[in-house]
Order: sequence, then structure tokens, then C-alpha cells
Amino acid sequence: MRVELTVNGDPVSAEIEPQELLLDFLRGRLRLTGVKQSCEVGVCGACTALVDGQPVSSCLYLVHEASGREVLTIEGFVNESEFSEFEEAFTRHAALQCGFCTPGMVLTLKALRDSGAGRDVDLREELDGNLCRCTGYRAILAAARAVVGSEPAERER
Ligand code: FES
Ligand code: FES
Repeated sequence: MRVELTVNGDPVSAEIEPQELLLDFLRGRLRLTGVKQSCEVGVCGACTALVDGQPVSSCLYLVHEASGREVLTIEGFVNESEFSEFEEAFTRHAALQCGFCTPGMVLTLKALRDSGAGRDVDLREELDGNLCRCTGYRAILAAARAVVGSEPAERER
């Protein structure tokens, strides 16, 4: 079957298998390796991409579901002016070590920020689909608060 979609602002047209996963399409065909391959069962969030602005686990999402939609990966987001705020916040708070989880974290936070999430949003809940094996989360939450503009939840104070 043929799909037409937009990936990082560029039109993409391709012949695909009906069961082809967005993860394989982005990494294998388009070489967008900022989309990380890890658990492959929708648990870790490393494979997060945005489809029409919503975070999806690309390891569970079929390419044809993205037909006619706009897909954003970290490779596209780095070219947007607001990316520098995320870069600055993650650097200032030392919110990454190996960096494997970072693209997914950043895209999830971008979607949250774009949604107009209020000051009282619970970032631990919002990020519970993005796992990090290195940092212990405290630094990531600090960076997340900086970019989303939220207050620490009661249990973080
Ligand atoms: S690789 Fe998709 S959620 Fe872990
Ligand atoms: S910084 Fe290594 S997994 Fe998060």
C-alpha cells in the first residue's frame, strides 16, 4: 500500500507493508535514528515521535496510521527555534547522561508545552511513559519544569 505523509516538514511518499511500524520506517528507511529502539512493547518511550503534535510510541504505531499526517522527530525539532530552550534547560540542569531517553523526553515535553499545560501539571505523571535508566529523574523534572513552566508537584517539594 502507498502512504503519503509529512516527516519533519518534508513530504514523504512510500510503498509500505500494511503492518510496517513507524519505528522501522523512521529509523530504517529515513535514517532518523534519534527515534530510539528499545523495549519495542510501548513501555519505555525511547521511540517517541509526534504525530500531528501528539506523542506516540512508534514501536506500536503503524505507518499507515500516519498517512496524511505530520510526523515530527527530534531531527526535525532541533531545527525549530524553541528547541534552544529545551537544550538550555537540559544542559543547565544536567538532565541527561547517556542521552538515550532524551529525544523521547524532549518530544513528550514539547507536546505538553504546546497543549498549554498549566502550572499545576504533574510532570511525574506526564513523563511516566518515558523511562530513564541513568539520571534518577530529579534533574529531568527540573529541566521539564523550566520548559513547561510548571510548579513542582506537592510530593516533589
Ligand atoms: S521502544 Fe517503543 S516504547 Fe520502548
Ligand atoms: S540519560 Fe541515559 S537513559 Fe536517560
